[in-house]
Amino acid sequence: METSDQLDWKHLGFSYIKTDYRYISVWKNGSWDDGVMTEDNYLRISEASTALHYGQECFEGLKAYRAKDGSINLFRPDRNAKRMQDSCRKLLMPEFPVERFIDACKKVVKANERFLPPYGTGGTLYLRPYMIGVGHNLGVKPAPEFIFGLFCSPVGAYFKDGLAPCNFCIADYDRAAPLGTGSQKVGGNYAASLLPHKLAADAGFADCIYLDPATHTKIEEVGAANFFGITKDNEFVTPKSPSILPSVTKYSLMEIAEKRFGMKVSERDVYIDRIDEFTEAGACGTAAVITPIGGISYKGKLHVFYSETEVGPVIRKLYDTLVGIQFGEIEPPQGWIFKVE
Ligand code: PLP
Ligand code: COI
Repeated sequence: METSDQLDWKHLGFSYIKTDYRYISVWKNGSWDDGVMTEDNYLRISEASTALHYGQECFEGLKAYRAKDGSINLFRPDRNAKRMQDSCRKLLMPEFPVERFIDACKKVVKANERFLPPYGTGGTLYLRPYMIGVGHNLGVKPAPEFIFGLFCSPVGAYFKDGLAPCNFCIADYDRAAPLGTGSQKVGGNYAASLLPHKLAADAGFADCIYLDPATHTKIEEVGAANFFGITKDNEFVTPKSPSILPSVTKYSLMEIAEKRFGMKVSERDVYIDRIDEFTEAGACGTAAVITPIGGISYKGKLHVFYSETEVGPVIRKLYDTLVGIQFGEIEPPQGWIFKVE
């Protein structure tokens, strides 16, 4: 077992490290139990669980940050709690109350504080809430019981370390359908993304970019992150579509761009054959933070935005502000930071 004093905080990467405690609550006979913290990182469930056969599963991802003053910050956990409730409604699962979700985040961070990367290392404690349908079931219908779980793992960069541009390619597949589950954080979307991701990685790209599943003419998402571009007129543009995940990071950046930097912000169609309207482009998400997009490969040609090696000035200031807020270096907008005490 890994111990926290053996960890190289500055080079964690994004992989599972078993921590001391996780939270589990069970839904049975119409209600959630009180929940427990446990050291056991295995689940024992029925072989006939809907999560195993019919993908009745959803999850979330958020982070805890060791702030500059030594306190512990959660970034907008209420947003993740509400998004998880939306995923639950879509898959006919019982919603987990927002307050209990936030409380479970705090309990898990507190109980695993020795795994929270120190301030200044760039590392964070990634929290992974999830819900699965369990209990005996055979037909295609909602499960009789559910488990809400929440574990954590110390993490570093999802793509490259720090603020470094990566190249992406356009996927030959869809991850979601126009009226499907693309805007919910459900396991099936990610199962569908494994092969396109592997093909992209094998071809030397950080990940693939999905086009809209109806017409394949518009940019939707960048793997497990949202897309944004900065136009020549300093406008922050991000795709509008019913089949992309509403990213907490993306909406936070839109607010930062508009309120702190006076930029015009819009959610609209982003056509793949018009990406030369952008001087800079990026991928944003909890795991990806902001990853500058060096270039996009489409139909055998690489379109480079700002540079394949240098970070553009707008992305740099958006990144510094977002990360500064998360690590308690910059005053946050009201309600963005929840303290773990
Ligand atoms: N899109 C997908 C498909 C994701 O998995 C994620 C990660 O959560 C995001 C976008 C970014 O969302 P957020 O900023 O809320 O982490
Ligand atoms: C996140 O950014 O939280 C994600 O969910 C990305 C990925 C690890 C699924």
